[in-house]
Amino acid sequence: MRYAIIGHVAIVYVPSPDHKIPKEELERILKNPKVRTVIGRIGSFGTKRRVRSVLLAGEPKTVTVHKELSTYFVLDVARITFSPGNHFERKRMIEVAEDGERILDMFAAVGNLSMPLAKHRRVEVIGIEICGYTYAFLRRTIEKNSLKNFLPILGDSRISSPESRADRILMGFFGIDEKHMYAAAKALRNRGIIHAHRLVRKGREEEEIESRLKEWGKFINVLEYDRRIVKSFSPALNHVVVDIKARKII
Ligand SMILES: C[S@@+](CC[C@H](N)C(=O)[O-])C[C@H]1O[C@@H](n2cnc3c(N)ncnc32)[C@H](O)[C@@H]1O
Repeated sequence: MRYAIIGHVAIVYVPSPDHKIPKEELERILKNPKVRTVIGRIGSFGTKRRVRSVLLAGEPKTVTVHKELSTYFVLDVARITFSPGNHFERKRMIEVAEDGERILDMFAAVGNLSMPLAKHRRVEVIGIEICGYTYAFLRRTIEKNSLKNFLPILGDSRISSPESRADRILMGFFGIDEKHMYAAAKALRNRGIIHAHRLVRKGREEEEIESRLKEWGKFINVLEYDRRIVKSFSPALNHVVVDIKARKII
């Protein structure tokens, strides 16, 4: 059985809370020296992407410290989203950003995409998180990494995004709507890069992206764009990130 490890917690993806996993399988996972807790993850729901999971074996402790790209993430794995499949994207963000940039993460969680960037580059990051519970862990994550260049904001990025400030904007949320993109356009200094994440039907990537770009054209001039598949999300859907070089027109 395949599982992911975040901190000391192993995550098994299960279709329902009462899904049975053989005892020997759970014992085998617990033998991994990194693992002290095994949870079954059912999915993440709603705007706040609140995770639903059940304890399957081991210690009933799901708050952990995960280390990746020499960066700590403090989180409650049972309740906060952190996708191991986004590792390459976290690394790519460090590579594409340049020292001196001002970065806005409009859907910060615990800095899933932006904390390594703040750790490895001389940049200023503002991270906005709407969920109070997740925000508390974002603050703990900043402290754990001893970072002075990451400013956390508890709020709705449609309202709390700063104006005319960002060179690069991270939009790691699948429910991006027009209000989010309007706030992103306002937050751009003049031109900049927007990394917009989206779920698109496999094989229909180009047309779905083109149609979103047309919609967002009310707020930004798309100077150039590129897209890459972050991961396969389900049999029918790919998680795609669109890198948009944009100039604001609002
Ligand atoms: C799916 S998680 C993704 C986290 C991270 N960006 C990533 O890609 O791994 C989205 C996060 O955005 C937060 N969120 C959703 N709507 C928001 C809004 N309007 N303003 C700020 N945060 C928001 C949720 O609470 C959640 O923690």
